[in-house]
Amino acid sequence: MKPWMRTAGITLATAAAAALAGALALVYSGWYDSSATHPHTAPMNSVMDVALQRSISVRAARVSVPPLDDPQQAIDGFRLFRAHCVQCHGAPGVPPEPFAMGLMPPPASLVDTARHWPAAEVYWVVRQGIKMTGMPAWQYRISDEDIWNVVAFMRVLPTLSPADYQVWDSRYVRPEASSEPAPAVASAPAPAAASPAAEPRLGDAQAGRQALQQYLCVTCHAIPGVVGANYHVGPPLGGVAQQRYIAGILPNTPANMVRWLRDPPAIDPATAMPNLGISEQDARDIAAFLYTLDEPE
Ligand code: HEC
Ligand code: HEC
Repeated sequence: MKPWMRTAGITLATAAAAALAGALALVYSGWYDSSATHPHTAPMNSVMDVALQRSISVRAARVSVPPLDDPQQAIDGFRLFRAHCVQCHGAPGVPPEPFAMGLMPPPASLVDTARHWPAAEVYWVVRQGIKMTGMPAWQYRISDEDIWNVVAFMRVLPTLSPADYQVWDSRYVRPEASSEPAPAVASAPAPAAASPAAEPRLGDAQAGRQALQQYLCVTCHAIPGVVGANYHVGPPLGGVAQQRYIAGILPNTPANMVRWLRDPPAIDPATAMPNLGISEQDARDIAAFLYTLDEPE
């Protein structure tokens, strides 16, 4: 070995050791925020997204998909979805349970997933779950045949309006499962009497930015500047400040924005945006944040 090679080797080894020590010091310093109220940083979020997608597609490539077109499969799958999935993922017009809104990463709106993911990948994820998220592995609790039934139902899901979903619910679930609690409607405190005096004022935009992570807004909307908010179940919220109407119905005033956020079905019974049980204060804060979004991205 030539002397310069030895020097270069030593330099490289020193640099590597320093980088490792730096990384360890960062880990040990407690710098990274592991709380479920803060999303990952944007670079971390992108890396994890790609890693997850690749991990799933590589493994799902080995799965062979059975026929999924028998309507009975979707009906059987719907019953399982009602028993095991809607609590976290919600459904058209149906909010997830309160505990699910505190999860980070937030459970996806499966209406969106069902449009983009191949059946084999949905099957794989439901069977295996996703490490370090709230997504359970179901293989020890639901038979393979039934997991495929859930996949068959998820192909129908994006075609259901909130009203259709209720029809499925009363037709296929309620008659047998009368002991089950009624579908989850987060219990929002009754809105203050709608006197013109009770005009809600806007809150704190910074607090609103943080609160919207806790109501799954990011699983349904594209919101400029908010990590992970790039879904299109509802309209993108960039530029909402400049719109004349909210949801095409309500004149866009701060008071109406707060009303909309607190109980969309009370304003439009046909809407797919569920009542998420948002408190008055959180709704004001979130509205204040939304009014900072005056340019579509
Ligand atoms: C305890 C809450 C919980 C339950 C119950 C649950 N999930 Fe999930 N699920 C999650 C979370 C959290 C994620 C992770 C989202 C992420 O990584 O972006 C997830 C991810 C998924 C994904 C990947 C979606 C995507 O777009 O990233 C699918 C598909 C899925 N779940 C289907 C189901 C089905 C079907 C059921 C019922 C059999 C179910 N889940 C039950 C919490 C849950
Ligand atoms: C399960 C999906 C879902 C979730 C969760 C959700 N939304 Fe929506 N949102 C929708 C849909 C669908 C619409 C379109 C509703 C309509 O026009 O009837 C909508 C409409 C809106 C509108 C009106 C937009 C416009 O262009 O007029 C605003 C503002 C809004 N949502 C904000 C929020 C905020 C803030 C949150 C979190 C507190 C949230 N949404 C959570 C699905 C969702």
